[in-house]
This record gives sequence, structure tokens and C-alpha cells, in this order.
Amino acid sequence: MELTTKIPTRRTSQSKIKEVNSSTLKFGDFVSDHMLICDYKNGEWMQPHIMPFANLSLSPAALALHYGQTVFEGMKAFYMTNSKINIFRIAKHYDRFVKSLDRMAMAIVPEEIFTEGLRQLIDLDRAWVPKEKDHALYIRPFVIATESRFGVKISEEYRFIIFTGPVPIAYTRPIKVKVETKYVRAAKGGTGFAKCGGNYGGSYYPTQLARKEGYDQVLWTDSKENKYIEESGMMNAMFVVDGTIVTPPLSDSILDGITRDSLLTLARDNGIPVSERPVSIDDLETAFRNQTITEAAGIGTAAVVAPIGIIHLNEIDFHLPEYGPENVLYKLKQQLESIRTGHLADVHEWNCII
Ligand code: COI
Repeated sequence: MELTTKIPTRRTSQSKIKEVNSSTLKFGDFVSDHMLICDYKNGEWMQPHIMPFANLSLSPAALALHYGQTVFEGMKAFYMTNSKINIFRIAKHYDRFVKSLDRMAMAIVPEEIFTEGLRQLIDLDRAWVPKEKDHALYIRPFVIATESRFGVKISEEYRFIIFTGPVPIAYTRPIKVKVETKYVRAAKGGTGFAKCGGNYGGSYYPTQLARKEGYDQVLWTDSKENKYIEESGMMNAMFVVDGTIVTPPLSDSILDGITRDSLLTLARDNGIPVSERPVSIDDLETAFRNQTITEAAGIGTAAVVAPIGIIHLNEIDFHLPEYGPENVLYKLKQQLESIRTGHLADVHEWNCII
């Protein structure tokens, strides 16, 4: 593959941007005008192209549709105070993408295609980056196995695609979660750390059961003892206990969340104690009984901080205090948003300005 400085681009003749109403916009409602496509065949990545967003033509025998070789990333771009656009933490997202692709035995997208593809696609669709507070352009890079062959095998052909869409921050009201001790999201040695489609599909059924009981999501526990908290729904889990931010340590069954990493880094910068340690269900119950737990949240790209209002564990609904501007996670989230939009200095060089 030869990446020319300018990726060949076919522009849409009819932008859909006027259809977007930011006051009623929900996460995932809209896709921007263009997408990037790059194919992998005969052991190499071909020339990427940018074109109007459109349906794919795919063989029904494409391996991704049967055996699950699909990997994605979730990233965000922000409209900045100086009217420039910031794509947040490209390098860390690329590293995670590579780890996920590697775990799923898929072809690795070269860094130049990933980074230059993002820059040129978002530059073309820069009018789609929302200017409203608490909104961003969500970016979805992904790879699917496209080889048309229903024999069970590692695909020899892949398609890398990036599309984007404007989004508000998801989950602003506190959610109710239930500690899940029967079903598991990921096992030791499995794919929990990878951002592969199967991790999400496999979580739907237990989440659906929890919803029937009145909960929004589940707090996943480990696969061996069903004792230690792993993640919160599709997000990392974070708690504030005795003024310390406590979060389960990364492992092969926990996603290396980029928002998780960003908030922990900012906490350390601010001198807030951070403890990456196993959190058992009983630790949580003790913290509720002693009233030392003051905050709990799911942490992810889409929501940033999704505050938790109720945790159901050991047969009891435990209530968290009301969540507001005085909370540790609230303040860290505000600080992160200020860095991403250019209101605060980007000392960690997380921003990629275009
Ligand atoms: C995120 O928190 O950004 C996620 O990974 C959820 C995504 C699948 C919408």
C-alpha cells in the first residue's frame, strides 16, 4: 500500500447535516457524510479511499458474519475554543486497536492509514463536529473479516472502515446497576481486554434480564469466583471510597479504557489518591455499611462518567449519595472536557489538533 499524502476522496453531493437537531440528538442517531474504506488482500493493505457514507456490498459468506472476527474502536473529536478540531488520544486508541486485532488473529492496520485516515476524514467532515457543550463527534474505526468462505478459518481478507457521527454525552442521569454473579462478560485468557464485537453481543442477554428487574446495567464479576468487580456494563468501573479513587486493576478480562486512563492520570496530577486494586462484592457492601463509599460510576468514551445511583448486591439495593458538581469524578470529568476543548493546557499531549 502506498499512502499518498492526499487520500483519494469522492465527496457527497448532498450533505445530510441539516437533518441533525442537537437538542433532541441521541447517541448513535446520525452518521456524518463520509467514510473511509481500506481493503486488505493478498497479504497487504490497499490504497484507502474516502467516499460518501453508504451501505457495503458483502458476501453472505464473509467470515466476520459467522465466526466473529470483528474489532472496533470508539473515539471522540472535539470542537475547540480556537475553532480547531481535536481528535483525542489517537496514539493510545491505535495501540489498543492493534492489541484487539492481534488477539482476534486479524490483519493489523498500519498506523499511517489509521492516523492519516482519521485526520483527513474528520477534516473533510469538520462541519459535523458539534459546537454545543457536552457534545462531540464520535469516531468508529473498525475491521471486519471479508473473505467469502464458510469454512472455519482465519480470514485472509479484511476491510477497515472509519465512520463518524455527532453525539451528546450518554448517561447523564445516575443509573441503577445490579452485581451479576451468574453470567460473566469475560474469562481469564479470553478476549475481555479486546474491543471485539463478541464481548458486546455476549453481554446483551444478562443485561436484558437485569432490565426486566428494573436495572439499567450489570456490574460484571470475575469468571472464577464471581466475587470481584470487573466492569460496569460496557464501561470500566470506578468507585470513590474514603476519598480514594478505587478501580479494578487492568487484566486480560478488562478493557484498557482510555477515559479510565485519562481520569486516573488527572487524579494523580491533582494529588487525589488512586488505588488500582481488586474490589470484591463484600468490600463494596462494607463500604456502604460504613458509609465510606461516596461515588460509583461507569467510565467510558461515550459517557465519560456515567454516575451510578443504586448498586444491587447481596440481595440489597444500596443507594449512593446524590451526584453533583462537588463530586471527585464530576470535577475530573470537567477537567478532562476542558483539556479536550482547549480551555485548559494539554500537558500530557493527548490532543491531536487538525
Ligand atoms: C464506550 O464507553 O465508549 C463504549 O465502548 C461503548 C460503545 C460501545 C458505545
